[in-house]
Amino acid sequence: MRLTVVGGGSTYTPELVDGFARLRAVLPLDELCLVDPDAGRLSLVAGVSQRMFARAGYPVRVTTTSDLAAGVDGAAAVLLQLRIGGQAARHSDETFPHACGCLGQETTGPGGLAKALRTVPVALDIAEVVRRHAAPEAWIVDFTNPVGIVTRALLSEGHRAVGLCNVAIGFQRRFAALLGVAPDQVALDHVGLNHLTWERAAVVDGVDRLPGLLARHLDELAAEVELAPSLLALLGCVPSYYLRYYYAHDEVLAEQLAPGARSRAQAVMDVEAELLALYADPAVDTKPEPLTRRGGAFYSEAAVDLLASLTAGDGDVRVVNVRNDGTLPFLPDDHVVEVPAVVGPDGIRPVAVAPLDAGAAGLVAHVAGYERLALEAAVHGGRDRVVRALLAHPLVGQHDRASRLADLLLAANARHLAWA
Ligand code: G6P
Ligand code: MN
Repeated sequence: MRLTVVGGGSTYTPELVDGFARLRAVLPLDELCLVDPDAGRLSLVAGVSQRMFARAGYPVRVTTTSDLAAGVDGAAAVLLQLRIGGQAARHSDETFPHACGCLGQETTGPGGLAKALRTVPVALDIAEVVRRHAAPEAWIVDFTNPVGIVTRALLSEGHRAVGLCNVAIGFQRRFAALLGVAPDQVALDHVGLNHLTWERAAVVDGVDRLPGLLARHLDELAAEVELAPSLLALLGCVPSYYLRYYYAHDEVLAEQLAPGARSRAQAVMDVEAELLALYADPAVDTKPEPLTRRGGAFYSEAAVDLLASLTAGDGDVRVVNVRNDGTLPFLPDDHVVEVPAVVGPDGIRPVAVAPLDAGAAGLVAHVAGYERLALEAAVHGGRDRVVRALLAHPLVGQHDRASRLADLLLAANARHLAWA
């Protein structure tokens, strides 16, 4: 099978290659095609990827191109992992909101809107090329953030797309390790929107083990999501660490504004420089250590598992970003939610979930409203739509602040926005 990665020059690609090599029995590949406009990075990343496959004794051909149509030609699946504007644009997303007393983050709040505006039009253009050139049944697996908004953009244009994030698989692995069971024995009740989710149960052999985990490992679990143990105890569930931007907003903002604080983009730039130097070393033929300092842990397993289920699954349940279709009854059917779903070659069907409590439902509904307006702004452009989306975001709200943020966002992103 030919698999194509758009944004293949990403320093994350060897993470994927590591997963493909380890899980070759689940997803046999013949060719991995890396598509990227950055020829320099592409050749470094392809080099180390090819060496990793060779070391694993796995005869996969790694090919590269900057020509998207050629790259997706005949592909059985296409992974999207691109970052428009690179880490420089991310640094802007993580800092421009500060001038208005808002926190900076690449997917949450004003920064997430900026990323959506830059990314959605490009993702839609790519998907059209995939529709014309890839295999007729090809799936688009989107890791490109903001995953919920990008996936909904693709689905609304009728593409065969699914969104993927590593937060759920991270919890599954963590809970499995604490319980001393295999990860696939743990079924999560993971629910919400991408980067706005809660783990409400961890079921092993029909028994919810989360209450026991919270009783025995409360401090550890709370530390891992950087929230107070008393909050996890109060909620009786484990919020993802992205909920910190809501539940501990002022604390995060104070950290970001502290003297000497660096953005995550700046830290990632350092890691990337180290990684690229290692990729250039012909002796390096395994996944290098600095990759563990990126946030994408287990992302390769999640991708391989999902692709295997999409091509040959038989009742497999995976946590994915998928059309709501009544799963969260207070959201429109065409909204995209992040929940467990049955995944197979015929499609993806969300599993029924218990109702959200009033607090979580309120926040999810609020953010979903923002996401819908964000997609409107990304597709149709215009300052007013940007202001409307910001006004609807729970971390922005006020009109004066939304207007000022819109001006900052547009000034910082003009060269990435065809309409600005
Ligand atoms: C997690 C999120 C991803 C995000 C990543 C950032 O894995 O699920 O959506 O892209 O963190 O990691 P980074 O190393 O770039 O900060
Ligand atoms: Mn994610």
